[in-house]
Amino acid sequence: MLPYLGKGRPEKVKQRVTSNVQNIWIDNPQRYGLISRALHWGMAYLLLWQFMIILIWRIFGPHPLVKAITELGPYHGTVGGCVVVLVVIRAIWALFNKTHRPAKAAGWSGLMAAIVHRTFYGLMFIIPALAVARAYGNGKGWLQWGCQIIPATGQEIPWLVAPADLLHGPLSWALLVLMLGHIAVALLSSRVSGGEVLTRMAGRLR
Ligand code: HEM
Ligand code: HEM
Repeated sequence: MLPYLGKGRPEKVKQRVTSNVQNIWIDNPQRYGLISRALHWGMAYLLLWQFMIILIWRIFGPHPLVKAITELGPYHGTVGGCVVVLVVIRAIWALFNKTHRPAKAAGWSGLMAAIVHRTFYGLMFIIPALAVARAYGNGKGWLQWGCQIIPATGQEIPWLVAPADLLHGPLSWALLVLMLGHIAVALLSSRVSGGEVLTRMAGRLR
């Protein structure tokens, strides 16, 4: 019997501990698990980086320091490619955990959180997807890590280009506004709830 594992038959206790260890990967009603957290914070980093780089280029232009900072992280298309793949994995993972992840608050705040979170999923898919469709439609294709993901056909298909020309920028700025709102609400409601909201996504895994 392992003294520090508490009462019970050794096999049973061992089983309980093993299942606890496995459970850190999955969500439970008190907190998000390791996989949801890795997806959440990984994508938060990618998107915040994307917008920070776009904004510093807009403000300071092609200054050598701006170019040096840009080199420190993934490029625009790389971020978009990762986001579109990760959001599909994240949506599947969210569905898998649907019945046992932290419940939304009752009333308006919970409804708003549900709407905003779903909008995030939609935007994180549609924004890069439109750009990828345009890369095919303008015939230039898309080369990523030396791999020709979208073929460069040299032929223009105007109806594949038009949606991205029209919507890629505006939808991205809308995503930025929602993200800033989400961050503000997460930090504020954590102060009100004594840190409870933030610890669901960042606190100890119990
Ligand atoms: C520093 C930045 C961020 C902070 C502090 C933050 C904080 C949080 C917290 C505390 C939760 C749990 C809320 C709850 O259980 O009610 C959460 C969930 C969520 N966050 Fe963020 N977040 C950040 C960035 C982002 C970004 C950039 C996105 C994507 C655009 C995002 C999308 C989501 C989604 C969709 C959820 C619901 C859980 C899920 O489906 O994975 N967050 N966030
Ligand atoms: C999460 C993914 C992405 C975000 C958040 C994002 C965001 C943005 C933003 C904010 C702009 C500037 C719009 C403006 O000037 O008002 C932009 C432009 C652009 N992006 Fe993205 N982007 C993403 C993915 C991609 C991908 C995957 C590609 C290419 C395959 C791409 C190609 C472009 C191009 C060519 C432009 C300049 C033309 C335009 O404004 O539409 N983007 N993007």
